[in-house]
Amino acid sequence: MKRPFAYLAGVGRCAPERILHNSEFAALGLETSDEWIVQRTGIRERHIAGPSETNTSMSAAASRVAMERAGVHAGELDLIVLGTASPDHLLPSTAVEIQAELGASRAAAFDISAACSSWLYGLIVAEGLMMSGNAETALVVGTEKLSAIVDWRDRSTAVLFGDGSGAAVLKRSKHGKGILSTYFRSDGNLAQLLHRRAGGAAQPFDAAALADRSFYIEMEGREVFKHAVRSMADACDRALDGAKLTGADIDLLIPHQANIRIIEATAKHAGIPMEKVFVNVDRYGNTSSASVPMALEEAMASGRVTDGSTVLLVAFGAGFTWASLVVRF
Ligand SMILES: CC(C)(COP(=O)(O)OP(=O)(O)OC[C@H]1O[C@@H](n2cnc3c(N)ncnc32)[C@H](O)[C@@H]1OP(=O)(O)O)[C@@H](O)C(=O)NCCC(=O)NCCS
Repeated sequence: MKRPFAYLAGVGRCAPERILHNSEFAALGLETSDEWIVQRTGIRERHIAGPSETNTSMSAAASRVAMERAGVHAGELDLIVLGTASPDHLLPSTAVEIQAELGASRAAAFDISAACSSWLYGLIVAEGLMMSGNAETALVVGTEKLSAIVDWRDRSTAVLFGDGSGAAVLKRSKHGKGILSTYFRSDGNLAQLLHRRAGGAAQPFDAAALADRSFYIEMEGREVFKHAVRSMADACDRALDGAKLTGADIDLLIPHQANIRIIEATAKHAGIPMEKVFVNVDRYGNTSSASVPMALEEAMASGRVTDGSTVLLVAFGAGFTWASLVVRF
């Protein structure tokens, strides 16, 4: 089917109010420093959800903004695709909880689990379901409450992650706007480099998991770093090729916000100068599935994405998974 078929008609964002600065980790008992974190990651602070803030509440807030901007009400949604690595419950999906919260009674709703690439995977799945005639109007959400699954005693991961939600409404394309190309891949051989060993059906949560803390995120940071750079570079090339464009045609690169050094390496490979790269990792840390939609919303709100902008979205995450899209606004 001819592209662009679907466009992003409205984008919304929600971040918890509480901001945790790098300087606060010492008081939490972690041997780290603002200097180390800023130098190695570019992160200065992140938003952390309170006990009453859930993926459902944050996603509903982000979705309501996206729907208002798109001029769509909940009853018009045919589809809700939600990406998360930290679902509110293991059963049922967080997507159906948002469906109920929004009152989107006509929608089919389900979660996607592709870690930090989930929101881009979600856009690709939603576009495909629209192309095949299964949906006219879709809501695609990326949300995380990673503070609930991070080991606050592990300095190598605790300093990296944050909470938040981002959402977009997809409608049938008009005026040549929308998704120009997509690319997504995964490699399950590398699953052990970034995972949670316990808490699922293979190793259910029990006293042993509680004692050895194996239900929290575990990561081989250096290895993940190498693969992230390689895969995001590959993903940029593929989406650009698919749209028959080069880095010079891109008005703004919005990469997954994991680490400023990964972002810089990705931009360099794609031939896109840092002035054309959106960065907010300093203020949010790595919000996994929520990272790209939150960055996109900020880029739009600050006027860096306007009518006619050509934007390259790219992400990488546990699995490993990686994905990219070129989108015209
Ligand atoms: C995690 C990461 C920031 C670590 O940076 P790095 O430069 O690779 O650091 P290293 O792993 O080589 O560790 C260097 C030292 O810092 C220490 N260290 C780790 N975390 C620390 C922290 N928060 N504060 C201070 N020291 C820390 C390590 O223990 C190590 O000490 P050692 O040399 O005595 O063993 C980096 O590897 C990274 O960003 N990886 C990708 C992570 C990611 O993006 N994951 C999500 C993908 S979607």
